[in-house]
Amino acid sequence: MSEDIPYAEPFKIKMVEPVFRSTRDERTQWIKDAHYNLFNLSSRQVMIDLLTDSGTGAMSDRQWSALMQGDESYAGAVSYDRLKKTIREITGFEYFLPTHQGRAAENVLFSTLVKEGDVVPGNTHFDTTKGHIEYRKATVVDCTIDEAFQAGLEHPFKGNADPEKLEKVIRKTPAGKIPFIIMTLTCNSAGGQPVSMKNLREISALAKQNSIPLIIDGARFAENAWFIRQREPGYHETDIREIVLEMFSYADGMTMSSKKDGLVNIGGFIGMRSEEIFRAASVFNIMFEGFITYGGMAGRDMDALAQGLHESTEEHYLEYRIRQVALLGKMLTDAGIPVIRPYGGHAIFVDALSFLPHIPRETFPAQTLAVELYIEGGIRSAEIGTLMADRDPVTRENRYPAMELLRLAIPRRVYTDNHMRVVAAALKNLWERRNQIQHGLKILNEAPILRHFTVELERIENEHNPR
Ligand code: F0G
Repeated sequence: MSEDIPYAEPFKIKMVEPVFRSTRDERTQWIKDAHYNLFNLSSRQVMIDLLTDSGTGAMSDRQWSALMQGDESYAGAVSYDRLKKTIREITGFEYFLPTHQGRAAENVLFSTLVKEGDVVPGNTHFDTTKGHIEYRKATVVDCTIDEAFQAGLEHPFKGNADPEKLEKVIRKTPAGKIPFIIMTLTCNSAGGQPVSMKNLREISALAKQNSIPLIIDGARFAENAWFIRQREPGYHETDIREIVLEMFSYADGMTMSSKKDGLVNIGGFIGMRSEEIFRAASVFNIMFEGFITYGGMAGRDMDALAQGLHESTEEHYLEYRIRQVALLGKMLTDAGIPVIRPYGGHAIFVDALSFLPHIPRETFPAQTLAVELYIEGGIRSAEIGTLMADRDPVTRENRYPAMELLRLAIPRRVYTDNHMRVVAAALKNLWERRNQIQHGLKILNEAPILRHFTVELERIENEHNPR
């Protein structure tokens, strides 16, 4: 009988970068010196960096050669024309503005559309999206389906918004106060979970009935399209590019962090259908980013992005990408480690409340787990829990989010499956001795907002943490 041929990556490696090795003793000292904040570590102190999948991917040989064709003209660069053509082909948006990254696209578009007192509903907004809306004294309303908040529950599209919740928001908000509905694909803050085509269609119909534009935060649009193809009836045979075009066809505009599914290290853009919005946004783009034909990007980076958008929407690339994230998820599930199901597109999220139920929430169980994982295997992950949720602006009390998560975000085309095995082994070791992890962390210093980036912590020693 012939053997099944195992899966192999659809690329080979032309250039390599060293991974810096370290000992447990070194890491114990380094993380203490970093005040138990993984953002304070030097990348040389990290062996496998899963802090983010943003801007950390590897470019292809074709992207590197595209760089050489970059046109650095201040105005009218042909690199801009090439990127405009690609964005139109892939997303269908007629108008586009380049920006230096995703939050800059939010800043420019929201300067155009959001006013004080406005309400912006959607599925769970990413932090910077929320930040740019709240900064303008407007509010966000999270209308994600309830299923998204049950970590272990299997549901194919946990990124979906609930049309009933949205309708309620529309009904109780005065006319003209909802500048747009925003849908984030995939929904990062809900665990990298996708939104179905059916949901997009429903939300778009609801938006149209009420004359409200629909905007897509498309940072991980290609991964979302892959999940639609895999999970949604009627799309199994559909080409990824067709799915992508249909997804965006329901929207009036998009913001993009090209650092994710653009497969580049820096960059972003806004896509629009309306010439009027394009003209208004161009003014802010010139003020905040740069002239409209480069907006914060080098010409060469626009060429690399155009090529990256073609590659991220290739079927073989997406199969590899989603498969690798799922491989890590499966190894953890097989070991009994509680993770958000189904596995996300760009990351695996460990449920720290189930992992360390004996660590009180005010002593940051997800951050405690992140510190332990770093010491165990030199792996850098990110806390998405109470530290990140910040304090209530009025009461100054900790805000406790629905879940306390450790995010293992996988950079694109950077690590091999063996690196994933190392991550799984390190977490398994921690899982086996989880009862010996007795002490959480306490804050020494924190900033008034976005505290997780710069917070200084210390370990709580010689104190018994009650269950
Ligand atoms: N939207 C989503 C869904 C994101 O995940 C991010 C960034 C942004 C917008 C902002 O884009 O970083 O280019 O300014 N997410 C990163 C992360 C930082 O680690 O999840 P940016």
